[in-house]
Amino acid sequence: MKTRKLGNLEVSAVGMGCMGFTHAYGDPPPEAEGIRLVHCAFEQGCNFFDTAEMYSYFKNEEFVGKALRELPRDKVVISDKFWPMALPGQEAPKLSEANLRRALEDSLRRLGTDYIDLYTEHQMADGREEEVADLMGRFIREGKIRGWGQSSPTADQIRRAHAVTPLTAVQSEYSMMERKWEKDVLPLCRSLGIGFVAFAPLGNGFLSGKYRAGQTFAENDLRNVITRFSPENMKANGPLLALIRRFAEEKGCTEAQIALAWDLAYGDFVVPIPGMRKEARIRENLGAADVTLTAEEYRALTQALGRVEIHGDRVGRDIRKLGTVPQDVDR
Ligand SMILES: NC(=O)c1ccc[n+]([C@@H]2O[C@H](COP(=O)([O-])OP(=O)(O)OC[C@H]3O[C@@H](n4cnc5c(N)ncnc54)[C@H](OP(=O)(O)O)[C@@H]3O)[C@@H](O)[C@H]2O)c1
Repeated sequence: MKTRKLGNLEVSAVGMGCMGFTHAYGDPPPEAEGIRLVHCAFEQGCNFFDTAEMYSYFKNEEFVGKALRELPRDKVVISDKFWPMALPGQEAPKLSEANLRRALEDSLRRLGTDYIDLYTEHQMADGREEEVADLMGRFIREGKIRGWGQSSPTADQIRRAHAVTPLTAVQSEYSMMERKWEKDVLPLCRSLGIGFVAFAPLGNGFLSGKYRAGQTFAENDLRNVITRFSPENMKANGPLLALIRRFAEEKGCTEAQIALAWDLAYGDFVVPIPGMRKEARIRENLGAADVTLTAEEYRALTQALGRVEIHGDRVGRDIRKLGTVPQDVDR
């Protein structure tokens, strides 16, 4: 597996998003099967695993902790995210040193480790960028975290935080269906040497071409409420899938691999973290690291993509409509 640098962290070019092992896409697999799949990804060369305090309210961290405990700690890179607001059982938002320290210690305990490699502010606490950055700097100096990040920040929030404690990586949605960060955030990350972790790189699976209008999802699957999966938008996004299929056929790979290879081709500081819970998908998605788009192929695909209209998106206000998923699965 090829590797990439996110600041000081060396990670596999494709990581694994672990959210689905406890929630978001219907019932998760039994824990033992989930652990087997994480180990399968590791055996395929994936060393970068993403979780968050708020996924299933702490249970995802516990799952990831169990799965990674059986692997050599120095061979895995743990990406964890803290939720600055109060979560169930917590009385106050964490935006004080004492509360953030407690949250970090609790996450370390659930993960079964004494340091987190990449610790990311999961929802931006507007106006508190410098304060959070300063505290993250202290956690780094204390050896509790190796690097830190922001999720879905604006360019201004990145600049303000980075000036206090250099950011290791930003984590935001980036795929052929969500390109808004190309305007300023991606170029800024490139110029400041900040890594970019691309979440939902498969457009929640849509870009794999394996989902069709008329497809039904389990009641507790967020694709019932995000608009890119409404039957009319799935149909309207047909030209996007046709484009990806054409390139996949030309490259002799799958659609999901084209979608991931396109993310990777933006720059060597971009690392997609698809969620995947089947062995074949793990092999397929991690295999995207070996699908290299030439500069000409990337330009042609990106130009063609610019002519395709994208219908629907994936935003927190829709996800909140699904009562079975915790109050907010990210913005
Ligand atoms: N920072 C944030 O705010 C934020 C927000 C959302 C997510 N994340 C992180 O990003 C990770 C990835 O995002 P995501 O899981 O929401 O979206 P995603 O990776 O774009 O899509 C995941 C969905 O696609 C399906 N899938 C994966 N590979 C496939 C393939 N080759 N063929 C067909 N279907 C495939 C998965 O199915 P199965 O799982 O059933 O195999 C799952 O339903 C999460 O796990 C989480 O760690 C971060």
